[in-house]
Amino acid sequence: MTTKELKQKYLKFFEERGHAVIPSASLVPENDPTVLFTTAGMHPLVPYLLGEKHPLGNRLVNVQKCLRTDDIDEVGDDTHGTFFEMLGNWSLGDYWKEESISWSFEFLTKELNIPIEKLAVTCFAGDEDAPKDEVSADIWKKLGIKEDRIFFLGKKDNWWGPVGNAGPCGPDTEIFYWTGDGETTSLDSAEDSGQWVEIWNNVFMEYEKTLDGKYVPLKQKNVDTGMGVERTVAVLNGKNNVYEIDIYENLIKKIKEISVSPDENSVRIISDHTRASVFILGDQRCIAPSNVDQGYILRRLIRRAIRKGRNVGITEPFLIGLSRIVVEENFQDYPELNDNQSFIEKYLRLEEERFLKILNEGQKESYKKIENISDLNERVNSSGIEVLKPAKISFDLYQSQGYPIEMFIEDLKEKIQIDEKLADDIEKDFEKLITSHQQVSRKGAEKRFKGGLSDESNEVLRYHTSTHLLNEALRKVLGDHVRQIGSNITPERLRFDFPHEGKLSDAEISEVERIVNDVIEKKLPVNFKIMPQDEAISSGAIHLEGEQYPDQVKVYFIGESLESSFSKEFCGGPHVSNTGEIGAIEIYKQDKIGEGKMRIYAKFKE
Ligand code: ALA
Repeated sequence: MTTKELKQKYLKFFEERGHAVIPSASLVPENDPTVLFTTAGMHPLVPYLLGEKHPLGNRLVNVQKCLRTDDIDEVGDDTHGTFFEMLGNWSLGDYWKEESISWSFEFLTKELNIPIEKLAVTCFAGDEDAPKDEVSADIWKKLGIKEDRIFFLGKKDNWWGPVGNAGPCGPDTEIFYWTGDGETTSLDSAEDSGQWVEIWNNVFMEYEKTLDGKYVPLKQKNVDTGMGVERTVAVLNGKNNVYEIDIYENLIKKIKEISVSPDENSVRIISDHTRASVFILGDQRCIAPSNVDQGYILRRLIRRAIRKGRNVGITEPFLIGLSRIVVEENFQDYPELNDNQSFIEKYLRLEEERFLKILNEGQKESYKKIENISDLNERVNSSGIEVLKPAKISFDLYQSQGYPIEMFIEDLKEKIQIDEKLADDIEKDFEKLITSHQQVSRKGAEKRFKGGLSDESNEVLRYHTSTHLLNEALRKVLGDHVRQIGSNITPERLRFDFPHEGKLSDAEISEVERIVNDVIEKKLPVNFKIMPQDEAISSGAIHLEGEQYPDQVKVYFIGESLESSFSKEFCGGPHVSNTGEIGAIEIYKQDKIGEGKMRIYAKFKE
């Protein structure tokens, strides 16, 4: 079975059961500051899981591009990667456990022909927040799963969500595939499941976790499912790791061809990180390498791929060559990769040149410093913080030359034998120094804010509607080239990115504020209309260039009618119902964030 076949079969199966196919959303969650990347198919659907109406109805299915970076240091073993595709089907307040579980069972045993003996499932064991899920277990039994293949596990294993700190979540039932030869073992933890490999997760999202940690029933009961494409194809083909499936074949072949001494682990890391980097650069949002947020993760992925490239003896720039393989093999499903190919190559070239220079110059300096270290455990004081001396040395190298801590640790291991504990302590102290210099800490980059649209607090809704007003006001003042290329909302402020050359003048800022506050004062209603995509585009509704939209879209408009509205935008919601609820706002900061890209911050006036 190829990845393409699996994807096609899945979409067709659920289409035949009344599900509308929705396109893959961007890898960068819109309006959600709780995570940097889309980590599951449900992520872009949060507003709908919370009760907003979806333009294509209440049964959806898709293949979503996802990125998880929690395990970045484990990439290369059999089960961890960063970028992957997730198949998902959803019921937004429509069908429930019976249909969901029966369809999963039917798909696996009839469409994929998996023998029932190879399957086991887990169900939620129950706790003070929600009861034991006997209902799901009974459905599985009825379908023929033996009682000794049904395991009840607690919240750590059989509960999914929310993404970030608040939002929809619920107990789940997970389906495992036996990859071993001998007798099956029992399944006591999803994480440590031995030769049982999880292939599908059906989440029964009937709760919302609130910011104060409570679980309250949602307005509607939803089903959210997720099946990892690569992993499922691997087990179906009897492979014990994803790097042996079709999509990696050409990439790995090429890496081996250009390497002098390719070890398996480095080759896997290079292929995973290249694939992830191409999808981030080539995303609808065109993310470039930088020192913050998504751009920072991208930079780390690219740089780690280059370092591993050196490990296997690649000395010439190689990422552009590899990126072409990824684009070639994926552009049919993700046309944005083709549209953005020159952007992808431009930044891979720049980043590779820059990093090779840093590595060569930094390493000389690093070796020199390491030779002068007499006591690895010596502590020094740096701007009031006491840290290990090697951490301070590494921090100085990073500040002056951009030489990465990971490289410095590797140099240390090469020149002096140091144990993992000391390496960890040095890294921690390095990060303390970084944080104290108000830079984004590497590990903290993933989850930094509370809020986002999954937190439907009043502030967040008010800021979300303000974002639409700002978008329109900026277009009126600066021109039609303005469009949203990034947005981020917390309960404290909004942030909005758009293409524009250079900073705004004071007069321009005042004019934008005046227009926005004028609409707020007018107390205009905020409504939405669901309409065909082409009609929505010709109505002049703002949408994201390069984004794939479904046939029917939801357009939020601010004003008495769509025709007479001040602003109309493709958007899932949610919003306030009247601009009078917002209260005046002010733009308090602006930054140039890249070539021709500006970022503004706004908050409510005190
Ligand atoms: N959202 C669920 C997951 O990612 C289906 O496992």
